[in-house]
Amino acid sequence: MEPISIFLSLLIATIILSLSLLKLVSSRHAPLPLPPGTMGWPYIGETLQLYSQNPNIFFSSKVKRYGSIFKTQVLGCRCVMLASPDAAKAVLVTNADLFKPTFPASKERMIGKGAIFFHQGHYHANLRKLVLRAFMPDAIRNIVSHIEAIALSSLQSWQPRHLITTFHEMKTYAFNVALLSIFGKDEVSYRDDLKTCYYTLERGYNSLPINVPGTLFHAAMKARKKLGEILAEVISLRRERKSDDSNLLQSFMSDAEGLSDEQIADNVIGVIFAARDTTASVLTWILKFLAQNPTVLHAVTEEQEAIMRSRENKGLSWEDTRKMPVTTRVIQETMRVASILSFTFREAIEDVEFQGYRIPKGWKVLPLFRNIHHSPENFTDPEKFDPSRFEVAPKPNTFLPFGSGAHSCPGNELAKLEILVLVHHLTTKYRWCMMGPQDGIQYGPFALPQNGLPIKISLKE
Ligand code: HEM
Repeated sequence: MEPISIFLSLLIATIILSLSLLKLVSSRHAPLPLPPGTMGWPYIGETLQLYSQNPNIFFSSKVKRYGSIFKTQVLGCRCVMLASPDAAKAVLVTNADLFKPTFPASKERMIGKGAIFFHQGHYHANLRKLVLRAFMPDAIRNIVSHIEAIALSSLQSWQPRHLITTFHEMKTYAFNVALLSIFGKDEVSYRDDLKTCYYTLERGYNSLPINVPGTLFHAAMKARKKLGEILAEVISLRRERKSDDSNLLQSFMSDAEGLSDEQIADNVIGVIFAARDTTASVLTWILKFLAQNPTVLHAVTEEQEAIMRSRENKGLSWEDTRKMPVTTRVIQETMRVASILSFTFREAIEDVEFQGYRIPKGWKVLPLFRNIHHSPENFTDPEKFDPSRFEVAPKPNTFLPFGSGAHSCPGNELAKLEILVLVHHLTTKYRWCMMGPQDGIQYGPFALPQNGLPIKISLKE
């Protein structure tokens, strides 16, 4: 071969080799693709498609088209939505340190920036320990009789009125139980003031955050300031009185790391906020599902009447509430079907490689609890209300009514307890029927039967 041909062959071989190496290196460093999906219009994205219809239609049509991980843009935020149990677990549990909780700034201003849900890391872990200490079974077993007294007086106040709005009444019940678990049973003098201010704060919660006189937001911010003052007074009284009760305020005040009064107030308001509408919505759905399913109502009533007979005029005990498997399954199935929190929010704190896709820093990530609870892959005949399905434990990560991982609900035992106590007295003493249209669902933001479920209630003969 001519030297020139040898030179040319070597040159071509070197070029081919370099090009292939270059391709290999660049493919190793090629960024992963974004998840499939559409981002809609600039800024408004697909907000209208999401909110102009039942949100489930939006989510399920996306899942059908793009699979269980898809991107979209709503309310000015670029989002990745996750509809598979594994993906939800990866964000909430396994890689929780890469995804921080995220809320609009106006919500942080209203509740208080020191509240548990806004944090990660050491401050969050310490608060969580204090909250769990006050709401674990050993702490709340001592307040069963006080919860029972609140349940009985609520039911007695409904009955003479005949027609009530279930959600409204359940909110009052859940508020009173929340105050009991936070402050204990004794201090009552400031409760009315707390209630007035909290209700004003709540009215502003979903309003436009415009802080000028005359707006709901402005009234809410004033009420928030007053709440802080009332709570500072309660804390200072409590310091003088010294108590060894096991309620939440005591747990916060005895923290070795020393929370400031402001941080305590932020967390007291945060817990009322987390405890109230959630528990009241679940209770409202329970009354609806029981009224629509007479066989289930009959089974619950039989279980509760047996407990009533066995307790021979004594009040309910913690042990009684552990012997309610049928009612417990009704609560589980209600939380699955109603999925009152359709999803939660996190934000990627850096670019994250996630199950073959890239989630850019700052994007919101939403595990879709409702889709997971309503997927036929996780629950057979998912639209059917069938508490007996919980006779067998659900597959891992498919049942997340209280979330999962570092931010999962620390109040779940208290929520279940107060629901069991109310259902015990309701089903053993009262009957009720639903009034008005019964198929609609409102999202505000929790899923709720239309108009808060108006019912007629009367004492059993
Ligand atoms: C049936 C009623 C309830 C439901 C369905 C519920 C649901 C949830 C869910 C899904 C989360 C996690 C949210 C997330 O990961 O972003 C959560 C967090 C939380 N819940 Fe509940 N909850 C209920 C009742 C309560 C009660 C009664 C309390 C307190 C007495 C409470 C206190 C909290 C707190 C403080 C957090 C934040 C925890 C953290 O960030 O570490 N919840 N709840």
